[in-house]
Amino acid sequence: MKAQLEAYQAAVQGLSPAQAMAWALREFGVGQVALASSFGLEDQLLTQWLVELEPKARVFTLDTGRLFQETYECMGATQKKLGLSFEVYFPDPQKVKELYKTKGPNSFYESVANRKECCGIRKVEPLGKALFGLKLWITGQRRDQSLTRAALETVEWDEAHGLFKLNPLADWTEEQVWARVLAEEVPYNSLHDLGFPSIGCLPCTRKVEPGQEARAGRWWWEEPEHKECGLHSRPK
Ligand code: ADX
Ligand code: SF4
Repeated sequence: MKAQLEAYQAAVQGLSPAQAMAWALREFGVGQVALASSFGLEDQLLTQWLVELEPKARVFTLDTGRLFQETYECMGATQKKLGLSFEVYFPDPQKVKELYKTKGPNSFYESVANRKECCGIRKVEPLGKALFGLKLWITGQRRDQSLTRAALETVEWDEAHGLFKLNPLADWTEEQVWARVLAEEVPYNSLHDLGFPSIGCLPCTRKVEPGQEARAGRWWWEEPEHKECGLHSRPK
């Protein structure tokens, strides 16, 4: 796997994000590649580029059931503009029911373990279903989003899920992303204009102060090193 990964890393070296996605579609086939979107700024840019490259490209989202109304508005606007049908995955209702019964609807504020349990049910398990049968998934992660992402590579082997992962914007800055979003009239979540650079579930996302790290408003009550929900496990 190591040699294969190194070959893929060499193949995308120096490519633009759109060229890297075009490479992935060629290498693995349109049906075996999918972009994961939470309708964040980066995901929106990648979605538009991916659909321009290949109208049949697959884009999936994990609807946790706790998202902002603005996120659904962004989803609707994108669907309309690009004529794209998102593949939507939901949590297992039985598990959500059990969680409410045993710990209540807002247990995530009580401990990191409880928070990870909720993310596990609402995001990580559905992600496993979304990735089934794929050879590569594409994400909007960037290296400078947080200290947990400092070592992010453009192509990685996702050991937890057993497939490759492409992060086409790994070395882009937030300013670069904004410049392309505005120039190419990419629809974006209106919360970005209200001080929310990184948007997840409503109860676990708040505004950041100017100068704060992009993901400072996510799970703001936790220490920075815990701030991953389990979708993206880093190679040790
Ligand atoms: S995370 O902590 O929620 O994973 P972040 O919001 O920074 O982090 O998202 C990073 C990337 O993970 C996004 O660009 C997207 O590719 C993927 N992602 C995050 N949340 C979702 C979601 N709900 N549905 C689909 N993909 C997601
Ligand atoms: Fe649950 Fe919050 Fe994780 Fe959303 S971000 S799945 S509400 S703990």
